Amino acid sequence: MTEALLQVEGLRTHFHTFSGTVRAVDGVSFAVGRGEIMGLVGESGGGKSVVGFSLLGLIDPPGRIEGGTIRFDGEDLTAAGEARMRRIRGREIAMVFQDPMTSLNPLHTVGRQMDEVLRLHTDLDAAARRARSVEMLESVGISRAAERLSAYPHQFSGGMRQRVVIAIALLASPRLIVADEPTTALDVTIQSQILKLMRRQIRERGASMILITHDLAVVAEMADHITVLYCGKVVERGPADTVLRRPAHPYTRGLIDSIPNPALRKERLNQIPGMVPDIRNLPVGCNFRDRCPRATALCAEVEPALQDRGSGQWAACHHPLDAAP
Ligand SMILES: Nc1ncnc2c1ncn2[C@@H]1O[C@H](COP(=O)(O)OP(=O)(O)O)[C@@H](O)[C@H]1O
Ligand SMILES: [Mg+2]
Repeated sequence: MTEALLQVEGLRTHFHTFSGTVRAVDGVSFAVGRGEIMGLVGESGGGKSVVGFSLLGLIDPPGRIEGGTIRFDGEDLTAAGEARMRRIRGREIAMVFQDPMTSLNPLHTVGRQMDEVLRLHTDLDAAARRARSVEMLESVGISRAAERLSAYPHQFSGGMRQRVVIAIALLASPRLIVADEPTTALDVTIQSQILKLMRRQIRERGASMILITHDLAVVAEMADHITVLYCGKVVERGPADTVLRRPAHPYTRGLIDSIPNPALRKERLNQIPGMVPDIRNLPVGCNFRDRCPRATALCAEVEPALQDRGSGQWAACHHPLDAAP
């Protein structure tokens, strides 16, 4: 097996706040292969976005990467300086956020913003940069692209704006795209169009993607591999079809049962009962135990470690679902 494009090992990113240390990401490991889409899923507050920001070196005080390694094509990004990270962002790793206006400048035309990216990351001359921008807007399904270069972000609809952001993210041909809830703000029809567009663009370019979402239905449609985060820790990971069809962790099962999609759901729609614990004050043992139908005394005492379930599937549970209860 060739080395993965991205190999995250034991990543710990904490925030030192007045009310205590928030262990937002606490010992997270996963890999993303070349050309692969990895879905990073879990409920709100699980640490998904903090993983994304950590990869891009965008953690600001009071946050800090406390430990672990982020190997990108062999280079440990936790040891890279800010100058190196600035070159990596955009050119090697691009990010797409939920709100397109996070990435777009409302005061500049789309064409100018695209031109800036190309000036920064390529040696193309002005005419070639313009041609490339037009081509890229067309490739994400924006018609009359040459004309639209002189439009401002507010002149586009929400869905079109997110297409522009994706076009900008792809401009410098990054090898990895980190997309954080890229379609959560869009209505369902547009969401599905944008996801298909992203998948096609990723596949055509042989790039990799980390698709961050709370929505398992999105991941089911898109991902090759899945990593499930709960309270800053990986509770399960593996090939998407295996994890979705035969989840080992009761938390993953709960997420699947919450998908409003009859094809993936076995019984009636049900939310996972209970609440995510306060990560400043996590209990001893398994973080999920208070919400878990399978919890025993052992779960209150010993934190389960990730265990190999075969075929690339790993789960951190004392009573995994395909074992006897
Ligand atoms: N700047 C910050 N300061 C303090 N806590 C933070 C900060 N950013 C994120 N967190 C905390 O880290 C945890 C993980 O957050 P996040 O990664 O945004 O979750 P997700 O993206 O899975 O919804 C949450 O408990 C959140 O409150
Ligand atoms: Mg988030």
